[in-house]
Amino acid sequence: MIALTSRNNPKVPYDQLPLLPPPGDLETKSVLKACVRARALLAELRTAGLLIPDQSVLINTIPLLEAKDSSEIENIVTTHDDLFREASLGEAQDDPASKEALRYRSALYAGVASLKRQPLTTTTAIDICRAIKAPHIDVRSTPGTALINTYTGEVIYTPPQGPDHIRDLMHNWETFINEPSDLDPLVRMAIQHYQFEAIHPFSDGNGRTGRIINILSLIQDGLLTQPTLYLSRHILRTRGDYYRLLGGVTAHGHWESWILYVLEAVEQTSTWTTNKIRSIRDLMAHTSAHVTRSQAMPIHSRALIDAIFAQPYCRIAHLTERSIAKRQTASVYLKELVRLGVLQEKKFGRDKLFVNRRYIDLLANDGHTFEPYFPMGFEDTAGLPGLHGFYEESEGGHA
Ligand SMILES: Nc1ncnc2c1ncn2[C@@H]1O[C@H](COP(=O)(O)OP(=O)(O)OP(=O)(O)O)[C@@H](O)[C@H]1O
Ligand SMILES: [Mg+2]
Repeated sequence: MIALTSRNNPKVPYDQLPLLPPPGDLETKSVLKACVRARALLAELRTAGLLIPDQSVLINTIPLLEAKDSSEIENIVTTHDDLFREASLGEAQDDPASKEALRYRSALYAGVASLKRQPLTTTTAIDICRAIKAPHIDVRSTPGTALINTYTGEVIYTPPQGPDHIRDLMHNWETFINEPSDLDPLVRMAIQHYQFEAIHPFSDGNGRTGRIINILSLIQDGLLTQPTLYLSRHILRTRGDYYRLLGGVTAHGHWESWILYVLEAVEQTSTWTTNKIRSIRDLMAHTSAHVTRSQAMPIHSRALIDAIFAQPYCRIAHLTERSIAKRQTASVYLKELVRLGVLQEKKFGRDKLFVNRRYIDLLANDGHTFEPYFPMGFEDTAGLPGLHGFYEESEGGHA
């Protein structure tokens, strides 16, 4: 009988986890082809980001979608509506899942900010995990951490043990990310993500911390300028494959299928995010045209439109903070937008919120279409700013 080693016995700590880089040539022909595709789509995403001059529109919303799905991978389930509402109210009120997802977004922002001061290191990972989970979290120092299937109770994986050993593995991981390499940055991202999850440096929060690090590594390597890739969307939808392929590297050294999986996730989510950004731009232009057409607004609507797209649940304070108007006038503007059917007014306790419903629906939906404000007859478009692009892009069909 052959004794099981920790590599293929999930109940034994995987203390023999090899250091990076993995042996052999991982950049096979299929991997390189997938890299070319993924990098072209990432470049398109970067360009799409420039379509919306007010970057807070994307920086507020796309990371919140990412936070929602990345948290849902760990069974922390919230709705888009709850999440955007709680985000607008500041401190998440009473929904623990939204609270946790909002902490994920804050951790992502803090991680992006930290890249301006220092490269991606173990300290970054600790800070991210603390921001998501709790301020006292540190690298594991006691045994007993194992990944368990919550439905069957079966142990899926037991990570390496011993604080010194874990620190050494993390040091090697950090060197791999930062030192010059011939590897394509996307291949490097896939490798380091496996290694981070295999080291499992924390007692909890490793999945979410690791997925934030993926986005940060793309920014560090210049493949993204903002944290606006919704990578967890694909992972959540293929969660079974995600777990199985991580396990495949441990048990069988199946690196190629793992790397191809990550590249596919980048391709799929770059395309989806690019299309989403274009459709947000279209909805902004269409809303602007609708407001202009009504001739109801005493001010140029551009700043106002930016504000109600930066926060799909808008408050009067959001307008005053942007110096659009003083409190009373801001309230008049928002109420006017309610009258025009752009916003809906809702009360939450003592707070009054103005919901941009078409926008929430657009963000929440898999597709990239929205209900127009008025019939799309040609006569309606004549002379209206912003709408020409709207028709052009929509006919191109990025569903
Ligand atoms: N076989 C495996 N080997 C290594 N890592 C794995 C394996 N299967 C899954 N993982 C990783 O472990 C993560 C789960 O670990 P952990 O519970 O620490 O993360 P998480 O972010 O905490 O979530 P939560 O706290 O909500 O449970 C998965 O998201 C995945 O990234
Ligand atoms: Mg967990």
